[in-house]
Amino acid sequence: MGAVTSKTIVITGASDGIGAAAARALVADGHQVVVVGRDPAKTAAVADELGAERHVADFSRLDDVRALAAALAAAHPRIDVLANNAGGIRGPRQLTPDGHEVTFQVNHLAPFLLTNLLLETLLASSAAVVTTSSMASRGARLDLDDLEMARGYAPFRAYGASKLANVLFTRELHRRFHERGLASAAFHPGVVATSFGGKDGPAVTRLYGTALARAVFSSPDRGGSRLVRLAEGTPGVDWASGQYWVGGRVGRTSPQADDPEAARRLWEASAAMVGLA
Ligand SMILES: NC(=O)c1ccc[n+]([C@@H]2O[C@H](COP(=O)([O-])OP(=O)(O)OC[C@H]3O[C@@H](n4cnc5c(N)ncnc54)[C@H](OP(=O)(O)O)[C@@H]3O)[C@@H](O)[C@H]2O)c1
Repeated sequence: MGAVTSKTIVITGASDGIGAAAARALVADGHQVVVVGRDPAKTAAVADELGAERHVADFSRLDDVRALAAALAAAHPRIDVLANNAGGIRGPRQLTPDGHEVTFQVNHLAPFLLTNLLLETLLASSAAVVTTSSMASRGARLDLDDLEMARGYAPFRAYGASKLANVLFTRELHRRFHERGLASAAFHPGVVATSFGGKDGPAVTRLYGTALARAVFSSPDRGGSRLVRLAEGTPGVDWASGQYWVGGRVGRTSPQADDPEAARRLWEASAAMVGLA
């Protein structure tokens, strides 16, 4: 990787886990990191520790995403990296106040909206949009006629589909905007001992926050280092745009991730759902 120059890097989900670890490492490397979290106290704790700008937004409310985008665009004429990292898994099927299945909204629709609302700034900055997907995308399939799983919902199914949506979003972002200087990447951070699953996820995901998980799984620092590598790297030199990464390599994911028509349809449906169409 070439010499690292200081970048402005916005990280969502930076109040905990992989995002917080990446924020610490990037600040240590001299970058200006903007910490975005959901919980005000956790977000303030990380931002205070790093002396960083902070924003609070709950992605289960699209108006929070709109306000976040407006604040970021007003404060930053230049954003070199947008790291769409916030996300998680939920329990029984629930709708957000916006009327969308919550996993699909928090993990896909909200970063889709944030990225689109920041597009002018991102294009002017020749930015990279780095999205934290998961190996859960590999066995997933998106039903393009039932994106919000009105039928056949199960927490892990919804999670895997939302992480496949992250890869399709990355592909379509590349197809639409790479010629204008934007780069995109999705990645799997590893199986990482974090609060992933939180209090709302299926019981089994609470294992991720236990001492056993800390002994067996990757550390948040290790998971965060995969985000750092993409954020600090130069697209086209250190990594190719439009791909899904596992470590330093293009990873295997669902065959549907290679279907350009699925990527296009997901984009158009998402734009309609968030009022951009
Ligand atoms: N851990 C793993 O093994 C693993 C594997 C593959 C992919 N991932 C992905 O990695 C990303 C980070 O997860 P993590 O493992 O670091 O879990 P984590 O420690 O629980 O961190 C999740 C982050 O996302 C934020 N977040 C969750 N729901 C949100 C909402 N409704 N609105 C705004 N922000 C929200 C949290 O904010 P607050 O803390 O402020 O609530 C927190 O900062 C997620 O996209 C996850 O799907 C994790």
